[in-house]
Amino acid sequence: MVTIAVTAEGPDEPRVAVSPETVKKLAALGAKVRVQSGAGLRSRFSDEVLKAQGAEIAGTAAETLAGADILLKVRRPSVDEVKQLKPGAIVAAILDPYDKAGIEPLAGTGASLFSMEFMPRISRAQSMDVLSSQANLAGYKAVVDAASQFGQALPMMMTAAGTVPAAKAFIMGVGVAGLQAIATARRLGAVVSATDVRPATKEQVQSLGAKFIAVEDDEFKQAQTAAGYAKPMSPEYQAKQAELVASHIKTQDIVITTALIPGRPAPRLITRAMVESMKPGSVIVDLAAERGGNCEATVPGQTVEVSGVKIVGPINLAGTVPVNASNLYAKNLYTFLELFFDKKEKVLKVNWDDEILKGTLVAKDGKIVHPSLAPQPAA
Ligand code: NAI
Repeated sequence: MVTIAVTAEGPDEPRVAVSPETVKKLAALGAKVRVQSGAGLRSRFSDEVLKAQGAEIAGTAAETLAGADILLKVRRPSVDEVKQLKPGAIVAAILDPYDKAGIEPLAGTGASLFSMEFMPRISRAQSMDVLSSQANLAGYKAVVDAASQFGQALPMMMTAAGTVPAAKAFIMGVGVAGLQAIATARRLGAVVSATDVRPATKEQVQSLGAKFIAVEDDEFKQAQTAAGYAKPMSPEYQAKQAELVASHIKTQDIVITTALIPGRPAPRLITRAMVESMKPGSVIVDLAAERGGNCEATVPGQTVEVSGVKIVGPINLAGTVPVNASNLYAKNLYTFLELFFDKKEKVLKVNWDDEILKGTLVAKDGKIVHPSLAPQPAA
């Protein structure tokens, strides 16, 4: 029988890689799911609840891992954890694959490492896309956090004592997180505008009832890669974009930044001078904080103040809604793992040629195999 191990995450990670729903589904695939006691607690999944769905609860990490075929985690597991699995076991997690110093020793264990961040953006893989499921929650939470930091109300209110004006929110980067941020800010009654470099976002922004603001030149028309992501923009484009942002941002109360380019530091969109031009009491929530920040003044993991403007640099915002985040993440992992099983025979049957497996496989048999991680040719 295939054994799937799920160990507890570190102190900074409230999410877990399994849910009551997925324990049941994995068991139905023919697997034994062994969960470390307490691993689900911060997502409100007690040992009892998981056990009732068919999980085997193990007392320690070592007991959970011993000889397992598959390890599911949220964050990258340690080399020591992976060594306790069956040789050549399968590991699926948010591995942070561009961190060479972390990924190479793990590859050295000989395990097959699957990086959930590398999920191809094809329709068959949509339900396995962890970046989307987590970014969606982060986009929502960013607006809620901004609203609570902002010393004013968001919706326009007409009261006997006078009218409260609607707050102005500006969303920079309209991927999954940005779209959810627009929708949430709109629901809270803010007047919303948004920007991106991918032309496809214009219609999406407008259909959510927000105003689209961008430098729409020839470069903009080609800014989307075949994989659906943004390209790094030229210095000329960046200068035009900065000019536009500088004039718009002065009038905004809340700014949520979400702009990312895969495998690169986050693009710098807000300079310190732009922050200083904003009204005191305004709030910036920089969702790109973990990747260096879209705002020059962002300090990852902290809230800082510049000229009366609060700049929030959250780390792991999805982890602040762990119940939803774990449920969705676990479901992403489950639909991914379905690909590894022969459902009729209830055994592992891995088709290494599957586009989705190939797209996410980072290392196998001791070697890094993903094309995105191949050594760059010398310039
Ligand atoms: P992301 O997290 O990589 O980036 C966030 C946003 O920042 C993107 O919209 C990007 O265009 C924007 N950005 C990058 N550089 C910028 C700059 N200099 N200025 C302004 N904005 C900038 O992107 P995310 O959220 O992962 O989504 C990218 C696309 O992939 C979306 O169109 C999404 O709908 C699509 N997608 C497709 C899936 C599928 O088909 N399976 C699954 C998930 C997303």
